[in-house]
Amino acid sequence: MGLLRRRQSPAVARNDRKFVGRTEPPHGLQVVAAKGSRVRDVRGRTFIDFQMGWCVGNLGWNPPEILSRVQAFKGPCYVAPSDTYEPWSELAHRLTKIAPGNLERAYRCVGGSEAVELALQLAISFTGRHKLISLEDAYHGNTIGARNVGSRDVDVRLPGMKKLAQPLDEQALSRLERLLAPRDVAALIMEPIAMNLNVLIPDTAFMRRLVELCHRYGTLMIADEVACGFGRTGKLFASEHYVLEPDLMCVAKALGGGVAPIASTLATAEIADKIQDSDYEFYSTFGWMPLATEAALATLDVWESRGDEILDNTAERSNQLRRNLEAIFPDAELHVMGVAIALELGDEERVQQIERRCRDRGLIVVPEEDALMMLPACTIDERTVHEALGILESAAR
Ligand SMILES: Cc1ncc(COP(=O)(O)O)c(C=O)c1O
Repeated sequence: MGLLRRRQSPAVARNDRKFVGRTEPPHGLQVVAAKGSRVRDVRGRTFIDFQMGWCVGNLGWNPPEILSRVQAFKGPCYVAPSDTYEPWSELAHRLTKIAPGNLERAYRCVGGSEAVELALQLAISFTGRHKLISLEDAYHGNTIGARNVGSRDVDVRLPGMKKLAQPLDEQALSRLERLLAPRDVAALIMEPIAMNLNVLIPDTAFMRRLVELCHRYGTLMIADEVACGFGRTGKLFASEHYVLEPDLMCVAKALGGGVAPIASTLATAEIADKIQDSDYEFYSTFGWMPLATEAALATLDVWESRGDEILDNTAERSNQLRRNLEAIFPDAELHVMGVAIALELGDEERVQQIERRCRDRGLIVVPEEDALMMLPACTIDERTVHEALGILESAAR
């Protein structure tokens, strides 16, 4: 509470407590403005943001090219899901063009959990199977289906959920084969590079075998790119690191450029065609609202016109961060892929202490049990990273 009182105006804190539904008290700032890699709080202090909404603000906050498009938007505020709307076809077409593999249809969703839920349902409907496999301790969202393939507390346990524990090695592949062999598993879902498992980076040989096993036993592969998509890991999609061709892929978060909520589940034509001919029905009332669609189209325009430059910057900042973090925290285990960074300190109290000191000195990092997560924007500049590293160095002492 002390922390809350210092950072929030008392009335806002009181009303938040009284009216805003939460499962834990707020521990962040009272944000009043954001631009690029910085946020400003109600007291006028600015902070470098190494959280970026957990992979929402990959292009920085309030990106002018996207914001101006949304502000100038003159189209309809709403179109019913059963109608057609030209920007929907454009967005769907463009998503399928940039997606890995043979994903040829894009379904309209609002957020990541919905996109994951839909992918699971499509897999179950397409295969006629009911079992699902995911990585142990993964996170895939907050619906009952997503919580069941995730490993957080869930009150409703669905049957047929199987978990693959780390390490992701030969033995894990043997366990996976035993799970798949009865041919009753609809899908395996994973983040190709797992933001929610402290930036877990499976090796290429493991991923190749995993895909082969899925193919052999008729199990669909779902790539959850909700957090790792759109440049976060140094490629547009994390699947590209493995030349992965998923059967279904979920995108959300950074698709809206940090300006609007929008998400999609992408599917192969084979899956989408069979689903269309089946009894399975899906629509989402607010899926791809026109304003959100405009934000996503503007986001794709940024990636199309400046994608190479942004990914070059991501690689440079990634090296800068890795080099310096190795020097500042020589005893920590560091996982870095693009601007997805987990610093495993192995000590929860020390993580909390460093996070608090960073915040007091103007840097937001994310404590995750015994690790510090850092998720800066792909567009962050060298000087801002340098400044953040200075704060981290002083906080580590
Ligand atoms: C990998 C992954 N999948 C799905 C989700 C759920 O997305 P949303 O919070 O938009 O429902 C998240 C959210 O953090 C996520 O990290």
